Parts: sequence; C-alpha cells; structure tokens
Amino acid sequence: MISLVIMFVIYNTVVYTQGTSNETPKMSEQAIKGEQLYQENNCTACHQFYGLGGYLGPDLTNVISQKNKGPAYVKAFLNSGIKTMPKFNFTEEEKDALTQFLTEVDQTGYYPNKDAETSASGWVGIKYKNR
Ligand code: HEC
Repeated sequence: MISLVIMFVIYNTVVYTQGTSNETPKMSEQAIKGEQLYQENNCTACHQFYGLGGYLGPDLTNVISQKNKGPAYVKAFLNSGIKTMPKFNFTEEEKDALTQFLTEVDQTGYYPNKDAETSASGWVGIKYKNR
C-alpha cells in the first residue's frame, strides 16, 4: 500500500510539473488578423481546411502553393465574388491579412496527402512540411 502511495505521488509530481511542449507553429500577427476575418466572414461555411468545413467551395489548405494559384489568385476572388461565393468589401490590408493566414495554413501540411506510403510493418508514412 505504501509503495502504491509513493508511486502515485511520484507519478503525479511528474505529470503535473512537466510543462506541455507546444510544438504548433506560432502564427504572425498579420495571420491572426486574417484568421479573425476568416471567422467573422464565415468562410468556413463554404470552405474546408484539411477536408473540414462546408462543402460549397473548394478546400483552401494548399490554395497558396497549388500550381497556378497563389496570393494574387486568392486576392482576386475576395472582392469579386464568383458563382455562389459572395462579394466581400475587404481593404487591401484585410486582403493581405487573409492571404497571410492562408499562407501560414498552407505551411502546416499537404491536403490531400497523396504521398503516403505503407511499409511492410503496416505503418503509414506521410509527407510533412516544415520537417
Ligand atoms: C457562400 C459560400 C462561400 C463563402 C461564404 C466563401 N466562399 Fe470562397 N468560394 C466559394 C465557391 C463556391 C468557390 C468556387 C468558385 C469557382 O471556382 O467556381 C470559392 C472560391 C474561393 C477561392 C478560390 C479557391 C480555389 O482553389 O480556386 C478562394 C481563395 C476563396 N473562395 C476564399 C474565400 C474566403 C477567404 C472567404 C471568406 C472571406 C470565402 N471564400 C467565403 C464559396 C464561398
């Protein structure tokens, strides 16, 4: 019983005194502003990141790094509207912030991740960005 109590105390000391490692990349001020705009204007009602979101418009995870797309391409959509995408009245500054947000989202990974390889042991290896 005593050894159980000792183990309990040690376990809890270790668990509750070690800081959690925060490896998520920090976003820039500008990107955080962009994220706010993304939320306030409910872009996620129609767009997805990593497949999650509304399905009226395309996934935006890699819209910045996709071939023939990029910051200028994204900005062109924002105030013009297309098909079911509404017109917005963003200032240049707001468009830059949104583009910066999408740029930093893009840097987090690939979607869909097409370069997955299954090894003989059953592990699936996927390609990461920032590594
Ligand atoms: C009511 C639904 C709707 C909302 C809200 C919406 N969009 Fe869209 N968006 C669309 C649709 C639909 C398309 C596809 C248009 C096409 O290519 O014909 C699109 C296309 C885009 C594209 C081009 C993507 C590509 O890969 O070609 C970008 C970038 C984009 N939207 C950004 C945004 C941002 C940022 C917001 C929020 C400020 C937003 N959208 C809000 C429906 C929406």
